[in-house]
Amino acid sequence: MPVEAQSAAYERAARSRTQKGFVMNLAGLPIGERSLSKASGLEGVVVADTRLSHVDGERGELIIAGARVEDLAFSEPGQFEVVVERLLSLAAARPEPGLRERLAEARLAAFARIPQLHHALTVPEAMDALLAATAQGCAGGEALDVLGALPVYVAASARLRSGQSPIAPDPARFTAHDFLSMLGLPENSARARALDAYLVTVSDHGLNASTFAARVVASTGSDAMPGVLAGLAALKGPLHGGAPGPVLDMLDAIANTEPRAWLESELLAGRRIMGMGHRIYRVRDPRAFVFERALVRLEAEDQEKSAISGRLAHARRVEQAAEALLSERHPDRPLRANVEFYTALLLEAVGIPRALFTATFAIGRAAGWLAHIEEQRRTGRLIRPAARYVGLVPD
Ligand code: COA
Repeated sequence: MPVEAQSAAYERAARSRTQKGFVMNLAGLPIGERSLSKASGLEGVVVADTRLSHVDGERGELIIAGARVEDLAFSEPGQFEVVVERLLSLAAARPEPGLRERLAEARLAAFARIPQLHHALTVPEAMDALLAATAQGCAGGEALDVLGALPVYVAASARLRSGQSPIAPDPARFTAHDFLSMLGLPENSARARALDAYLVTVSDHGLNASTFAARVVASTGSDAMPGVLAGLAALKGPLHGGAPGPVLDMLDAIANTEPRAWLESELLAGRRIMGMGHRIYRVRDPRAFVFERALVRLEAEDQEKSAISGRLAHARRVEQAAEALLSERHPDRPLRANVEFYTALLLEAVGIPRALFTATFAIGRAAGWLAHIEEQRRTGRLIRPAARYVGLVPD
């Protein structure tokens, strides 16, 4: 069929479907013509009730397991385990005793599987290796088996890829501390605390794309591991968890130039400014404040005195220039720094190579995925939305 005839047929089909009442309701919300075409990103569509976290995009607030993120992030070392315990027990509506020990055992069990995962762990890119190893190395695993395995696989695969032997976990350490030591980084308690604050802060964030993906898989009755695989796959994308590496590339590229001119050339080339903008936040992402504070604390405590303040001042200059430029381009749509902007700086200061940024994000966010998987399972309800058919209709 010629192209013109085909597109006319598409239009006829779309009109006929609409007239015949094919336009569906999602979650009981009325969806009109405009919202259907605009809702391709499902913005504003509520598909689940959750007790795990709440994102207020207008006020810039994030509540995780009933507490404000800034209060959670700066508590005792080992706070990530506390947050995991809170999230999982909220989801399962029962306590999770001995969680720290069970997570440490899971790290040991994952390490024992490393020889048989050699092929998966040496896949070139960190997230691809993590996907491959998780798929093979956690079969039938319960939530904590999968959660404990992730830092082990990320660290082991980084070391194997650079020709070094994996380092065994130490069950006496908390996750953040153990992860740094499995990577072979020098002992540094200030950096371990900064990473702990990072993992806590990214542990959950409403129905973000990777959490939604994990919930969809869980809603089919599948296991925890495939749900985490779905989360990992979604997190990998540059519009979600793949941004912090490019943010650092951007900061490096602008190190000796005027930020505005460089940013303008990016927009002119049709590229987005990484680390800016968010689907929900209309103000600065509250996690950016948490990471800035963690960086300032790290600089004060870090014996090795890394060059944090210079980097932070440069990042703030770039952020201001990007914000000003984007507000000129999009006066009606505030585009401010998101979590990834300062993630890049914090993980760099902690000593994590930028190729591992997204995989490190996954270690923290998997806590949220697993809690959401459990919460979704308990609803016993399949997530199955609808699509409006705009294709050809047979005569
Ligand atoms: N740089 C340049 N322009 C941006 C932008 C950015 N970082 N973020 C959004 N915009 C523009 C879009 O091009 C769009 O312009 P248009 O209406 O002229 O087409 C407008 O702002 C609205 O963007 P939209 O795509 O509707 O926003 P979204 O809610 O779908 O996207 C993000 C949210 C996060 C995907 C988006 O802001 C983005 O791509 N940011 C950069 C990647 C990033 O930092 N990801 C990590 C997220 S935590």
